[in-house]
Amino acid sequence: MPPIIDCVAVTKRYANGQLALDSVDLSIERGEIFALLGPNGAGKTTLIGAICGTVSMTSGTVSVAGTDVVRDFRAARARIGLVPQEIALDIFASVRTTVAFSRGLFGRPADPAYIERLLRDLSLWEKRDARIVELSGGMKRRVMIAKALAHEPDVLFLDEPTAGVDVNLRRDMWALVRRLRSEGATVILTTHYIDEAEEMADRVGVIDKGRVLLVEDKAALMRKLGKRRLTLVLHDPLSALPESLAGWPIALDEGGRRLVYAFDASADDTGVPTLLRRLAEAGVAFADLETTASSLEDIFVDLVGAGS
Ligand SMILES: Nc1ncnc2c1ncn2[C@@H]1O[C@H](COP(=O)(O)OP(=O)(O)O)[C@@H](O)[C@H]1O
Ligand SMILES: [Mg+2]
Repeated sequence: MPPIIDCVAVTKRYANGQLALDSVDLSIERGEIFALLGPNGAGKTTLIGAICGTVSMTSGTVSVAGTDVVRDFRAARARIGLVPQEIALDIFASVRTTVAFSRGLFGRPADPAYIERLLRDLSLWEKRDARIVELSGGMKRRVMIAKALAHEPDVLFLDEPTAGVDVNLRRDMWALVRRLRSEGATVILTTHYIDEAEEMADRVGVIDKGRVLLVEDKAALMRKLGKRRLTLVLHDPLSALPESLAGWPIALDEGGRRLVYAFDASADDTGVPTLLRRLAEAGVAFADLETTASSLEDIFVDLVGAGS
């Protein structure tokens, strides 16, 4: 089957000269959950805009289910549900009216039973007659999702769906995405959280500075990203590493007060027990320790090489 979304050489230069997308090629398969992972400013929102027709491309083409998004904007757009990064709602309309109206905008016949199910699924049914202005931020975000799904799109875009949302909403959102997928929908989400990509996606694309650096199955990518860091807060600052640790991927930070060791958490031998033993043998004592997943920045350094 042809991809549900096909981007070919998509380039966007904003009027101020900013190159936000640099010849992006990307195909999304029908029925997959695709996470577009990248730091702030990478071009994620711009790419979604190009696909949804809200950003005019400088060059390149995008098709949705074989329909060109520029030549046949309305037909392509009708297949897409978009939950933008920023909340944008008519604050004086009721929840149900907002969602039902959005369905009508796409020329779909009214279907109160469908709207009811949608509102129930998103825990909005109790609030169906409330005006948007009366809702909490989390509830408004749920309305944004219901609105995006009101016309039964084939593809749902979620732009940073869980940035700044509470744990409950995050959990509900993930459950909803899984259910949509089980019903055959395609879901594309952007995120700068690796754990979100890890939790949700079948495939992950990494974007930075307007370029897609890689697209891979999640499992393979997570193996690559599976680096962790062990930080030890030392009792006494060290000016140099013990000789028994020469050549280890260890850095001394904060004037030798912290020792930071990078390791592969999925490896059979992480090196951590050996590290701790050698430090003890060298008489290096520590007051505290923590391990953290490597940051997206570290990963980019890994992926594209330092200084690129
Ligand atoms: N309307 C705009 N005008 C000019 N530059 C923009 C505009 N929107 C985004 N940019 C720039 O384009 C780049 C990509 O932005 P964006 O797509 O919003 O990234 P992301 O969603 O990954 O954070 C950034 O450098 C951003 O500052
Ligand atoms: Mg964005």
